[in-house]
Amino acid sequence: MAAKIIDGKQVAADMRAELKQKVAQLKEKGIVPGLAVVLVGDDPASRSYVTAKERACEEAGIFSNDNRLSEDTTQQELMALVDKLNKDPKINGILVQLPLPKHLNESEVLLAIDPNKDVDGFHPVNVGKMVVGEDAFLPCTPNGIIHLLLRSGVKLSGAEVVVVGRSNIVGKPIANMLIQKSDTGNATVTVCHTRTKDTAAHCRRADIIIAAAGRPNTVTADMVKDGAVIIDVGVNRVEDATKKNGYRLVGDVDFEAVKEKASLITPVPGGVGPMTITMLLYNTVLSAEKAAGLA
Ligand code: GUN
Repeated sequence: MAAKIIDGKQVAADMRAELKQKVAQLKEKGIVPGLAVVLVGDDPASRSYVTAKERACEEAGIFSNDNRLSEDTTQQELMALVDKLNKDPKINGILVQLPLPKHLNESEVLLAIDPNKDVDGFHPVNVGKMVVGEDAFLPCTPNGIIHLLLRSGVKLSGAEVVVVGRSNIVGKPIANMLIQKSDTGNATVTVCHTRTKDTAAHCRRADIIIAAAGRPNTVTADMVKDGAVIIDVGVNRVEDATKKNGYRLVGDVDFEAVKEKASLITPVPGGVGPMTITMLLYNTVLSAEKAAGLA
């Protein structure tokens, strides 16, 4: 079977058009959702993610507040900025781009963000609420994956899902979200990681594989059941002398071979990536509605 490609760009564009309308309606009530983005240092990948987030905000009519700090920023300076943004009524969402430079204490920074402005869903209060199934800001990449699956007509209830990777940003939260007793969950989930004895055997049983290991070719065709749905979260730069910038982006899945066995597959780029940013906009608008007592 040759897979149908899940067009994340198109699904994201549809959702962003809906959000843009909502933002316009809020503006009529005098409400302008605002997102503060904080980037420390000049990692090229982080810089391009942050630029894309800011551009998406502007396109949706969301106010974007850009904070680019030098690599040698101290913990105190970063904490002071978070405190200032927590108190700023124009800011509904605060996003500190991860990873932070090594000398900074990431968990202390995430803990300092007001949970009501934590549009990344990384604050322990929101993580805890998510795990027990309470209303919370849900992390953007996992939430984007679930929307992508649902809008592609994939049934989650009762599905066997294998998540490859156990990061705090993707693996752990998506596994938790998919086991919730809800219309966006009800799946049976296995999480594979670097100490799993036989990841391939687990994957071969899966109706849905979510590859979030951060390593090219983690999921190969021999690991995929005929007709499985493949979600590739990986964004890996591999050297490519034919490209102007010297590299190309590949996911965690051997796309060309796996697409011959899967029923649905996300490409890299153009699959999960555009959904992550869309869910960030979604959370920021939701936060503004909550702050105004509308949600
Ligand atoms: N680094 C990689 N993905 C993310 C994300 O979704 N949010 C933040 N803040 N940092 C990231």
